[in-house]
Amino acid sequence: MPTSTEVKRPLVDLYSDTITLPTAEMRAFMAKAPLGDEQKGEDPSVNELTGLVATLLDKESAVFLPSGTMCNEIALAVHTRPGDEVLADATAHVINFETGGPAALSGVTVRGLPGVRGVFTREQFAAAVRLPSRYAPRTSGVIVEQTSNAGGGTIWPLDTVAEVTSIAREHGLWTHMDGARLFNASVASGVRPAAYARHFDSVFVDLSKGLGAPVGGLLAGTREFVEAAWRVKQRWGGAMRQAGVIASAGVYALRHHVDRLAVDHENARLLAEGLAGIPGVAVEPEHVETNIVLFDVGGTGLTAAEFGRRTHAEHDVRVSVFGPTTIRAVTHLDVTAEQLPLAVEAIARTAASGTR
Ligand SMILES: Cc1ncc(COP(=O)(O)O)c(C=O)c1O
Repeated sequence: MPTSTEVKRPLVDLYSDTITLPTAEMRAFMAKAPLGDEQKGEDPSVNELTGLVATLLDKESAVFLPSGTMCNEIALAVHTRPGDEVLADATAHVINFETGGPAALSGVTVRGLPGVRGVFTREQFAAAVRLPSRYAPRTSGVIVEQTSNAGGGTIWPLDTVAEVTSIAREHGLWTHMDGARLFNASVASGVRPAAYARHFDSVFVDLSKGLGAPVGGLLAGTREFVEAAWRVKQRWGGAMRQAGVIASAGVYALRHHVDRLAVDHENARLLAEGLAGIPGVAVEPEHVETNIVLFDVGGTGLTAAEFGRRTHAEHDVRVSVFGPTTIRAVTHLDVTAEQLPLAVEAIARTAASGTR
């Protein structure tokens, strides 16, 4: 039951895994978190969180930041010089959803490689690295998004990660993992987070997605890297005070909400199977590897924008618009298996209301 301070939720909210509310247990844990001045390194809860994440990723150090976007952008600011070029998949968050941050904040371009569902190959990567030239931008680093959000929750296989990052090292490039959903990849594949992370100079993990914490991300790497990241954090106004109030939610989430991501993955698979039977809707359940389901509604005669609007306004089920005819549905802590038939029915009704 929502409290008076919370907005009314849709019947089923598949908009994103970012919309979860802290559970009662998480709130209780947050309420008694020991606090101090984060900028001075005196907040015990933040220190516990950064220590926990550094250990999980097997990195020397980590810094707590208000958002995942800030984690990615600070990593770029530390790793690059103005005029550099960075390589990433064309669907990458850093290219499409960070308001041109790499150009605006660090003076770098990010070139998108045409991978399959967000994952490019070692051959594509090797061909894209520029030879040193007086005329060309310097290819300086690579970003791998684990899992690929706009690719549909696709897991970067460990072998591909190892191949791409080893080519990067041969060329003297830095490597960064946007691990907004690294724990989803890890739970689904059985590969430890540190086994992915060891291939990268810097790694970001998000607390406010599948883990169900309300705020924040962590950026991890060597002590020297994190020290440099702290300077940018301070400059950009990301240094906080009694941030243990929110950091403690991350501690709680890492202790209690990682293994349960398997439930979200199973729910996403069931949802995709349910959608597969709907006329006019194209979905490939075999491509659902984690908690994201992409489907195409072009066959209903509706645009994705209109499809999403009708599903929400007429059936109280919220999804997100990801392309002219592409819809994204995401499962998370606040979606139960019992809700899935309601979502499938809502989507089927919207599909039937199309002009097909
Ligand atoms: C792959 C990926 N990277 C980075 C981010 C940015 O995270 P935040 O919303 O915490 O800024 C997101 C958020 O949706 C994401 O999906």
